[in-house]
Amino acid sequence: MSELWVERHRPRSVSGIKGQRAVVERLRAYAESKTFPHLMFAGPPGTGKTTAALALGRDVFGDGYRDNLLEMNASDERKLESIRTKVKQFARTAPMPGTSFKVIFLDEADALTPDAQGALRRIMEQYAETCRFILSCNYSSKIVEAIQSRCAVFRVRPLDADKLLEMVVDVAKREGVGLDGDAAEAIASVSLGDLRKAITSLQVAASLDNNVTRDLVYETTATAPPEELHGFFLACKEDGFQPARRRMKGILDRFGLAGTDLVNQLHRELGGVTFLDEIQKLAVTEAMAECDFRMVEGGGESLQLDAMTAKICGLIGS
Ligand SMILES: Nc1ncnc2c1ncn2[C@@H]1O[C@H](COP(=O)(O)OP(=O)(O)OP(=O)(O)O)[C@@H](O)[C@H]1O
Ligand SMILES: [Mg+2]
Repeated sequence: MSELWVERHRPRSVSGIKGQRAVVERLRAYAESKTFPHLMFAGPPGTGKTTAALALGRDVFGDGYRDNLLEMNASDERKLESIRTKVKQFARTAPMPGTSFKVIFLDEADALTPDAQGALRRIMEQYAETCRFILSCNYSSKIVEAIQSRCAVFRVRPLDADKLLEMVVDVAKREGVGLDGDAAEAIASVSLGDLRKAITSLQVAASLDNNVTRDLVYETTATAPPEELHGFFLACKEDGFQPARRRMKGILDRFGLAGTDLVNQLHRELGGVTFLDEIQKLAVTEAMAECDFRMVEGGGESLQLDAMTAKICGLIGS
């Protein structure tokens, strides 16, 4: 793996960003007018926040945008003093010819403590004439109101499965990887709206075999395919404890899952199970939630999963 595909295929212009229609439209307008206010991007991992900030920088300032954009990661620069020093130095020199401001991109701003955010607020004001800030975060609730009110806030969303699929197929084509329809769908389904995860899964699978199949995708992403999970529920319903337990162990071994992964994947699949009614699903959900909680609290995995299996057999067994 010489280069990460997520970096190689990161869109360079805001028009290349997948999904996020409302965001892209507004960013395009900024790119056209060559100016923008302080910005904040908020949303789950791998959905295009860093991409949007860098692409906007390039669209506004051209290929040399890096000279005009200071990128800092708030999670490695938690001490605001180092941010202050860097911002000061950066703001002292003139912006690129033809532009009136410089950009400070503070990635993962939700890692800043409330105190640091308070000080940041002051910095944003001090340098407002010459610097625009772009903040990115996973949780906007962790950013103090005073900062949010200084920014145009953009919310990015998990990407739809069809957008994930489109991108994965496209990257596979450009990288010369064989990827059939089922495998592409499997990648879209295991990625849960995270495009970074989708592209990374493709690269990992392709590094083992240039012809990526559905099975390979599930094996390399530590995800059990839906039919295996349904099979577990069906065994609980029809075959009883021992066979259900064997199935569960088989899934854990084959796909390399931790106990909590298995419970979470079972939970996601439960909705699509056709042989259980609503009331049974509610009861099964409760049993899974309890097992998850106990494992997180330190309960032994094997015992807890057995107990959950026993409970589910009792609830839905015939
Ligand atoms: N909306 C998108 N359109 C096109 N590519 C995307 C999009 N979202 C993510 N990607 C791809 O995934 C990679 C990671 O995306 P990005 O760095 O923008 O994620 P992020 O939203 O900043 O996530 P984090 O919260 O983890 O920082 C990019 O390099 C790009 O290849
Ligand atoms: Mg990011």
